[in-house]
Amino acid sequence: MGKKEFEKVGKTSDIPPGEASCYTVGETLIGIYNVAGEFFAINDLCPHMGASLSAGHLEGESVSCPWHAWRFCVRDGTWLDNRKLSVDTYEVKIDGENLLVATEPNPKEDIVPNDKGRGAQGGENECGENECGENECGENECGENEGDNNNRQA
Ligand code: FES
Repeated sequence: MGKKEFEKVGKTSDIPPGEASCYTVGETLIGIYNVAGEFFAINDLCPHMGASLSAGHLEGESVSCPWHAWRFCVRDGTWLDNRKLSVDTYEVKIDGENLLVATEPNPKEDIVPNDKGRGAQGGENECGENECGENECGENECGENEGDNNNRQA
């Protein structure tokens, strides 16, 4: 593997705490999030239907997709309803006031699911409260697969 390269995308002051911005790096859209002064970068395309995740609502380290409210951890890229799936994460560097992001994603780590194969925060609490009730999550995400999500689409 070659040396990791970074691209300057903006200034830290461009993204206030609790907010995000999307940048084009090469051919990839990368969303950068400011979580209480710490910056995280993930691929901006929602793996569901391609919405811009950075346009969603950021709460702590969790961003909700603006289209159907799938939630992703901006720190490690995991989909909070099924931590076996994730979006790419990118290393962020601060150089003075400049914000730089790696041009290549971090290597995917093996994400160890919890005992039920769902994230510790996944399952009933995530979906029951704000995912399934109002959107398609009830049909194809949460309704039939509590404890059995083997038939989920990749
Ligand atoms: S496009 Fe993101 S949840 Fe549907």
